[in-house]
Amino acid sequence: MDPKRREGYERAKSEIRAVAEGESDAIANLANAVSILYDALPFTWIGFYRALGGDLVLGPFQGKPACVRIAMGKGVCGSAWEKGATILAPDVHAFPGHIACDPASRSEVVVPLRAPSGAIWGVLDIDSRQANDFDQEDVVHIEEIGEIVEGIVGRDARFLSQVV
Ligand code: SME
Repeated sequence: MDPKRREGYERAKSEIRAVAEGESDAIANLANAVSILYDALPFTWIGFYRALGGDLVLGPFQGKPACVRIAMGKGVCGSAWEKGATILAPDVHAFPGHIACDPASRSEVVVPLRAPSGAIWGVLDIDSRQANDFDQEDVVHIEEIGEIVEGIVGRDARFLSQVV
């Protein structure tokens, strides 16, 4: 991995923790987290979707306007939600049912996010304009970022009661 990308992941992790310190509001903390990630990393679209009813609903993001609702099992996001597991799609055009919000997106990683109860309250979606832009080291970093976000959001019981 490019050392600059590795450094970007590490910087994002510490900044996400730092800006959320002393603040429990999940939307505010998710908005800052996605801003930090977008600034630190070379990706085209980064955002959160929240699990509301039967859909994933668009949350804080950076990049072009995106699909607002994604049903369970649909696209990469809905599949990661349904499976409860990270999905790395090296070529989104080859992913069955991929939802093309932005035709410039070629590869992506989606990580499910859980409440302390274990229930999934949303996903983190990171898209690249290059095919094959993510490897297992990216996945490890993005899952760690997911764990940091889960810890932060776990402090906002009102947010979790809406989404879980
Ligand atoms: N590509 C996603 C849809 C969301 S956007 O890319 C922002 C998918 O297939 O789940």
